[in-house]
Amino acid sequence: MANPLTGLELRSTISSDGNLTLSLEPVTLAAPGPDEVIVRVEAAPLNPSDLGLLLGPADMATLKTGGTADHPTLTAAIPAARMPAMKPRLDQSMAVGNEGAGTVVLAGENVAELLGKKVGMLGGSMYAQYRKIAARDCIVLPEGATAADGASMFVNPLTALSMVETLRMEGHKALVHTAAASNLGQMLNRICIADNVPLVNIVRSEAQAAILREIGAKYIVDSSAPDFREKLTDAITETGATLAFDAIGGGRIVNTILHAMEAAINRTATAYSRYGSATWKQVYVYGMLDTSPMELDRGYGLAWGVSGFLVTPFLMKLGLEGTLRLRARVVAELTTTFASHYTNTISLAEALDPKVVEAYAKKATGEKYLIDPSR
Ligand SMILES: NC(=O)c1ccc[n+]([C@@H]2O[C@H](COP(=O)([O-])OP(=O)(O)OC[C@H]3O[C@@H](n4cnc5c(N)ncnc54)[C@H](OP(=O)(O)O)[C@@H]3O)[C@@H](O)[C@H]2O)c1
Repeated sequence: MANPLTGLELRSTISSDGNLTLSLEPVTLAAPGPDEVIVRVEAAPLNPSDLGLLLGPADMATLKTGGTADHPTLTAAIPAARMPAMKPRLDQSMAVGNEGAGTVVLAGENVAELLGKKVGMLGGSMYAQYRKIAARDCIVLPEGATAADGASMFVNPLTALSMVETLRMEGHKALVHTAAASNLGQMLNRICIADNVPLVNIVRSEAQAAILREIGAKYIVDSSAPDFREKLTDAITETGATLAFDAIGGGRIVNTILHAMEAAINRTATAYSRYGSATWKQVYVYGMLDTSPMELDRGYGLAWGVSGFLVTPFLMKLGLEGTLRLRARVVAELTTTFASHYTNTISLAEALDPKVVEAYAKKATGEKYLIDPSR
């Protein structure tokens, strides 16, 4: 293996004059340090959080190819109203891709045993042909697992497991989850079934409900159905859920969940309180699938909380031992509980094709894309 190694890396830049540019830049990696490896990246998922950095708030109707055959680019306009939020990243060429997997092609002297091994990695800059990374940020994949099997072994699995950890830490009996047929939502169902945690799934179509029924989900409510609120309150009454994780964020979904929790509690209340029930109702907003403002009418008393949730600070709170316990479960159940499915595998160059961008930017159920930079 040549050393130093040069490979292409996908970069995203938003300029001060309001344009997004995606490009493939050559990057040369010096030899790995004693505790580092260089991995040939063979699979990296395009998750909603990656898309946030990759495309920013670009107007998809303005996608335009450019550059040269050797150095292709893709540009798009950023709406003026969204530019102030982009200020901290303006004119910086940003590497993208939170997690990925591939084969170790160079290894430092303290971690030489990793040479040739397939590993999963977390740490950014994964949409690249080669990634230099500390060995501690890699997990060796189980025998027989492919790079595609290991590509999504950190972000969604650890977030789904963190939801159940939160439920236990905060003493809730059951949980509500939105956009529940997502890749993460399917994992959460398999975890909750195995761990006997009642889970109320909120989906927005019958097709999504069917996906979750197939997994074995017991409580599924469809927000597009006319009796959604009653059905949600019924499921929350039956399970006693006082905790929700919401990936949508915008609009009235959080409000609806808090109302349903309060109504469920009131079904068995024996005394009236003008401040609402004393039972704490907690919603963690962990995604931004709907970027419109969140509307809360506060018609459910005063014992409630709505806050953001990010997996990395949660894992820091959980501590090293807890995090290693969750990671070990992911490895043990990589191709079952934590299996991810991809509709399409694309090369780095294809990630700059406007038609392909439109497809992966949809974030539609069961339509996750994988980048294989080694193609
Ligand atoms: N905070 C954290 O630390 C953290 C960590 C990991 C993941 N996440 C978040 O977890 C969520 C799920 O990720 P994933 O990779 O599992 O997603 P995914 O597989 O790409 O699925 C996205 C799902 O969201 C649905 N959806 C999209 N826009 C929606 C909207 N406006 N209202 C309702 N549903 C909508 C889609 O349904 P349709 O087919 O109907 O569009 C689809 O089922 C994302 O929001 C991601 O950002 C957060």
